[in-house]
Amino acid sequence: MQSRMLAMEEGKDQATVIRTNISRTLPLRLLLFCLLFAVMAVGLSIICMYSVRFFIFQQTSTVTPSSLHPWFDESDTIERWIRPPANLWHSISDTELLWRASFVPKIKEYPFLRVPKIAFMFLTKGPLPLAPLWDRFFEGNQRHYSIYVHALPSYIAGYPESSVFHGRQIPSQMVEWGKMSMCEAERRLLANALLDISNEWFVLLSESCIPLFNFSLIYHYISRSEHSFMESYDDPGPYGRGRYDSRMEPEVQLSQWRKGSQWFEVNRRLAVDIIEDIKYYPKFKEFCQPACYVDEHYFTTMLTIQVPQLLANRTLTWTDWSRGGAHPATFGKDDMSEAFFQRIFEGQACLYNGQPTTVCFLFARKFAPSALDPLLELASRVFGI
Ligand SMILES: *[C@@H]1O[C@H](CO)[C@@H](O)[C@H](O)[C@H]1NC(C)=O
Ligand SMILES: *[C@@H]1O[C@H](CO)[C@@H](O)[C@H](O)[C@H]1NC(C)=O
Repeated sequence: MQSRMLAMEEGKDQATVIRTNISRTLPLRLLLFCLLFAVMAVGLSIICMYSVRFFIFQQTSTVTPSSLHPWFDESDTIERWIRPPANLWHSISDTELLWRASFVPKIKEYPFLRVPKIAFMFLTKGPLPLAPLWDRFFEGNQRHYSIYVHALPSYIAGYPESSVFHGRQIPSQMVEWGKMSMCEAERRLLANALLDISNEWFVLLSESCIPLFNFSLIYHYISRSEHSFMESYDDPGPYGRGRYDSRMEPEVQLSQWRKGSQWFEVNRRLAVDIIEDIKYYPKFKEFCQPACYVDEHYFTTMLTIQVPQLLANRTLTWTDWSRGGAHPATFGKDDMSEAFFQRIFEGQACLYNGQPTTVCFLFARKFAPSALDPLLELASRVFGI
């Protein structure tokens, strides 16, 4: 009986020994397994991360092969929103273009370095015979201007790559002088120029215009002005109020009717006012047709109603109407001399930011192609170009 009990005790002891052995080795193995698993998991995820990076880099680098490029592309940065269109020749319709151009940033402080530019907008029939003079005028001022050319649709421009006009033509439509299609062309120029967020001032010029001063003077004159140079006056005669049609009421009343030169300079705010207008546009389109020349009335009347305090009420473009008739004088080769320009410079008196000045015109028209050579000769002495 005792020996049985002893044997049982022994067996009990043996069992205890085995159990304690198992309970000691089991957690150790488990721990080892876990550790191995963890190491494998970390290793795998590192491999995954690197391969994903590698593939993304491969993808972006096929789009932008620059070795300086990070593995994210430009669409992730502010560049995407501020870069002007690379190609002016687009297939956007006028309706789409005006809509897009009417986007206005509400925060007026730019979160990037913005160098404000003057957009020089040339409204032409075809070639720009005075282009060599303008090339000289713009030389060295790349950061401060941009150029847009609206020619008739049939005209194919062939400016050499060295010219500032190379690749600056915008898609155009037919233009009939004195009709709404003229104002539409001007709005098209403004809308295209508005797509470049750096453009702050917008000058409308023609193929017969010339600059009267060097670029830096013109840039300072325009950029420091408190007003936009839209000519606006009330002409009681047959060519002023005589062109008014009372069916324009109530949008435009006779007392609000204005006349002014087609050749304007406006700032960005007024440029948006012009392209976004749907209130006055139908009235002018319907009730101002020749002999009402809409390009002499539409923008100036509209802006005088909306923002009179922002207008200088005078144009920057000198024109000679002294010979009378429907068209101003055109000057050619034989008219060109220092004395000719002296007469233009001397006859000036106007207000600039409320102060009297004798510098009133920055541009002049109309100059024939034959004037080019003498103009190039006079340019440095007379205009400082
Ligand atoms: C531009 O013209 C003005 C006045 O004629 C002159 O004072 C200025 O030095 C000229 N600037 C350049 C860069 O030629
Ligand atoms: C331009 O004319 C408007 C009235 O049509 C006037 O309110 C404004 O002050 C004028 N601008 C200047 C610079 O005198």
